[in-house]
Amino acid sequence: ESYDMGGHDTYMHKEISEQPDAVDRVLRGRIDDRFSTVHLGGLNLDPREARSVRRIKILGCGTSYHAGQIGAQMIEELARIPSDAEPASEFRYRNPVVDPDTLYIAVSQSGETYDVLAAVQELKRKGARVLGVVNVVGSAIARETDGGVYVHAGPEVCVVSTKCFTNTVVAFALLALHLGRIRDLSVADGKRIIAGLRKLPAQIAEMLEGEAEIEKLAAEYAGAKSMMFIGRVRGYPVAREASLKLKEISYIHAEAYPASELKHGPLALIEPALPTVAIVPDDDLLDKNRAALEEIKARSGRILAVAHQVQEKADHTIVVPKNEVELDPILMGIPLQLFAYHTAKAMGRDIDKPRNLAKSVTVE
Ligand code: G6P
Repeated sequence: ESYDMGGHDTYMHKEISEQPDAVDRVLRGRIDDRFSTVHLGGLNLDPREARSVRRIKILGCGTSYHAGQIGAQMIEELARIPSDAEPASEFRYRNPVVDPDTLYIAVSQSGETYDVLAAVQELKRKGARVLGVVNVVGSAIARETDGGVYVHAGPEVCVVSTKCFTNTVVAFALLALHLGRIRDLSVADGKRIIAGLRKLPAQIAEMLEGEAEIEKLAAEYAGAKSMMFIGRVRGYPVAREASLKLKEISYIHAEAYPASELKHGPLALIEPALPTVAIVPDDDLLDKNRAALEEIKARSGRILAVAHQVQEKADHTIVVPKNEVELDPILMGIPLQLFAYHTAKAMGRDIDKPRNLAKSVTVE
């Protein structure tokens, strides 16, 4: 690739460190303080159409699918439209019911992933309305969709996605706010979310300053054969993405589970050799998450918590700055990108080009 690494040892490291600027870019020119909402110029969905949407189905692959899961939760929370995400690769093979009151959203960094493109084409053939949340301007998925939100993360070279993931989630927060303000989200809540969005670039920069500490933690956990990632509701897709990132570049087996499901099976795996990374935001589920940490500790499991305050039961806590709860998933994923990066580095992996993977899969 011809892009300059700008003094970084890998594109992944460069792209992680670009996130404050990237997030600033996805927000730029879109916030409307007068009406406590956002303008999304390319969305192509008028208020009457936005009000008539009964459901939202988000489709993507890999990291984009995880960003879509967070997006679905944000849309449900802020716009109160029932929403969910599904891997595009599954959706297109199961003869799904295509409902005229459902708005479909295709998510893709490259805009070229074949499974996503094929799902979009099938949906369009059946008369569905499909929007895109895409990074690459003018890409195939951007062209095939009826409108959408560009993610503006800039070029991403490393096979695994970091800044584009974060920007995609921020783009979904914008979309959720926009839909919310057309429906029932109050002016006060609109203002609150806008203030939270504006804080993100500085808070991400603050977290990146803690890199040396994360590097030390990664060295401690790099010997593990397998790792468990847990989170609840907003924390669960964060856990899934962090687990994917770790396995993609370090080749350590990792599994993500809702913390609430631990007792229904995976607790049997907990022992000192299987560390757990727990996403523990200060939200209404804090006590439930703490109880899960106690269960793990009682079985001598090692715990690395990503939290808003130091967790007593954890062996280590990475403390993340507070924002509005709806935006927690944006910030909580960032230190775990660095964690995956430093773990893979400590193990001598080829971080920008992990074995067996491609940046975009444009074939069946
Ligand atoms: C490939 C990459 C993943 C990526 C996925 C979707 O599998 O290795 O990192 O998340 O494709 O790519 P897209 O460009 O559609 O977001």
